This record gives sequence, structure tokens and C-alpha cells, in this order.
Amino acid sequence: MKLLKVLNGEPVWPPPVWLMRQAGRYLPEYRALREKAGEFLSLCLNPEFATEVTLQPIRRYGFDAAILFSDILILPMALGQGLAFAQGEGPMLPPLHNIAALDPSAAPTHYKPVMETVRRVRAALPEKTALIGFAGGPATVACYMLDGKGGGFPRTRALAYENPDFVTAVLDILVEATIVYLQAQLDAGADCLMLFESWAGIFPPEQFRAFVIGPTQRIVTALKAKTPGVKIIGFPRLSGLLLGEYTEKTGVDAIGLDTVTDLPAAIAACPENTVFQGNLDPLVLKTGGPALDAAVLRLLEQCRGRPHIFNLGHGITPDVPPENVERLMKLIRGTSDVP
Ligand code: CP3
Repeated sequence: MKLLKVLNGEPVWPPPVWLMRQAGRYLPEYRALREKAGEFLSLCLNPEFATEVTLQPIRRYGFDAAILFSDILILPMALGQGLAFAQGEGPMLPPLHNIAALDPSAAPTHYKPVMETVRRVRAALPEKTALIGFAGGPATVACYMLDGKGGGFPRTRALAYENPDFVTAVLDILVEATIVYLQAQLDAGADCLMLFESWAGIFPPEQFRAFVIGPTQRIVTALKAKTPGVKIIGFPRLSGLLLGEYTEKTGVDAIGLDTVTDLPAAIAACPENTVFQGNLDPLVLKTGGPALDAAVLRLLEQCRGRPHIFNLGHGITPDVPPENVERLMKLIRGTSDVP
């Protein structure tokens, strides 16, 4: 598997490629199945449907990795918090006031269908295609649990000052639950893991250390103790100058880069031979044409000779024309007519 080679620190050329949110609304075949399933959550929790949508982008584009089709908010739901995806509004949860409302011992029963999906996907994938299991980073998941929805997370940010013990208690539960959840994905057949810390960037440095770096380090240490050699990709979005510290202290094997981070600056800030993933702006994938060609060729040039996994800096958006993804694949794999 090319992806695992790169996660071991070996440069591979052309680099392996997959896209965040590669199974999603930009694909007509996803929209068709989503309509059949009704709700997004029904799609996530039905192993037959979830397996099918995980495989759709692999069949269409031959990506080097599949990512389990699920959501970072399945874990709080399994812990007992309500979760709904209102049409066009994103996730909605009843904001958490008391950790006694959470029941970690019941979670594995609730996320059982997800493990069945992992098993089915692994069995159906070509051998060369890696299956990435994932969870949200604990700080990001806590943001949704405490605020109940996206949009700046004002309650979480206030609580971080007014009641840091409460935030820490929520994070402690999430750290333990995430370890068990990710270990279950490994046991079911995931080849490597990713932690989506999409809202790492809302915290000032001291909180970033306490809420992002510390909990992530505990998760990585525990998983590696149980499964030596397991590879974990971190995605500390918008972490700015704290990227180097995150990389060194958490022990993740690779860093998912957001769109605003200059790759040469990230290389300079992180330990030697750090594996990077991502960085391409999803908006240029939507734009297509010469702008897409230029951006892809530039990123390929920047990562030549390094262990790099080609990807976006954030999820693909529903408005991306599927043919632009085809173009991207041609550019990366060298079969395009562009010089
Ligand atoms: O293809 C894949 O990447 C795998 C599946 C996956 C989804 N969400 C499916 C999804 C993964 C890895 C995620 C991660 C996720 N979910 C993150 C972290 C990454 C990031 O984007 O920052 C976050 C913050 C969430 C929470 C979430 N889920 C939000 C804010 C939303 C609404 C926004 C949106 O894009 O609609 C979702 C819904 C969601 N998760 C969809 C998909 C395919 C769209 C649902 C639909 O079909 O209507």
C-alpha cells in the first residue's frame, strides 16, 4: 500500500492521493443513495449503504485510500448525546451540561454498525487500497458537544476560561472513548487512522496545549502501546505556529495540512522528514481549468522527494464538478496532456 509506505516516511512518486470528504454530495451516485437512505445518519449507521458510499469514489477515481464513511459526531451520539443533521444546517446536538449524561460503557453497542462497515469495506477493497479509520480530535468533538452546533463555538470558548475543569472532564471522557473507538476500528480492519481536529485553531496557545496537544498525545500513546507500528495522521487545522509543537509532542505519524499553511514553512517548523498530507485549496478544485493545473503542479513540485500524501487542505465541497477530480488524478499520475 502506497499510503502506508509514505506513512513510514518513504517518499513515493507519484504520491498517493485521496481527498477529504471524497464520498459526498459532489458525486451523483452518493446523492442517489443518500436520497434512498433518507437521513445522513441513516446512511452512516447502515453498513450496507455506508460500505457502498465508501467504495463509490474508489471505483470512480482509483484513490490510494478509502476513508470509512461515518462522521466525527457518531462518537458523542454513541456516548448518549442526541444528534440530528438538519437539512442545510449541519449538525445539531443538545448542548452538554452534565457529564453524567454520557455513558461510555454503552458506546460500543451504539457504534457497532460502524465496525461492521469497516469489516465490509476492507473485504471489498483492492489490496493496494488503504482503509483509513477516523475519529474527531477530542477538542473539536467537545466543541460540538458543548455548543451543540458549528459557528464559532462561543460557549466552549467561554467555558475554557470560566469552567476549565468541566471542559477537561469532557475531554477526559472523549480521550478514553476515542481510544476504544479507534482500537475497535483497527480490530475491524482499518489500516491506519486519522484524527480530525478541525477546530484546533480557535484556542489560544495555553488552551491549545491543554485541550489539543495533551489529549491527542494520550490517544496516540495508548493506541501505539496496543498496536505497535499503527500509523496515525493528525489534522490540527489552523494551528499556525503551534504546528511544530503539535507534531513533536503528540507523536502522530503525519500531519494533514490546511489550506493556509505554506508547505515550506511547515517543513521548516516540524521535525525532519515529517510526513505531510494535503494543502490543496478545495476552492481551486471547484474552479478547475488553468488555475487547478497550476496549483496541482506547484504542490507536486513542492513535495517532490518528500513523503507526501496528496490531498486537499479541507473537505471537498458539494459544488466540485466530478470531472475536475478526474483532471486532478491525471495531473498527479502523469497521464495528463499538460507539459
Ligand atoms: O469521505 C469522507 O471524508 C468520510 C466521511 C466523513 C464525513 N464527515 C461525512 C459527512 C468525515 C471524515 C467527516 C468528518 C467531519 N464531520 C468533520 C471533520 C472534517 C472537517 O470537515 O472539518 C467535521 C467537523 C464533521 C461534522 C460535520 N458533519 C459537519 C459540520 C457537517 C455539515 C457540513 C456539511 O458538509 O454538510 C457534517 C455532515 C457530513 N459529514 C456530510 C458528509 C458526507 C454531508 C451530509 C449530507 O449528505 O448531507
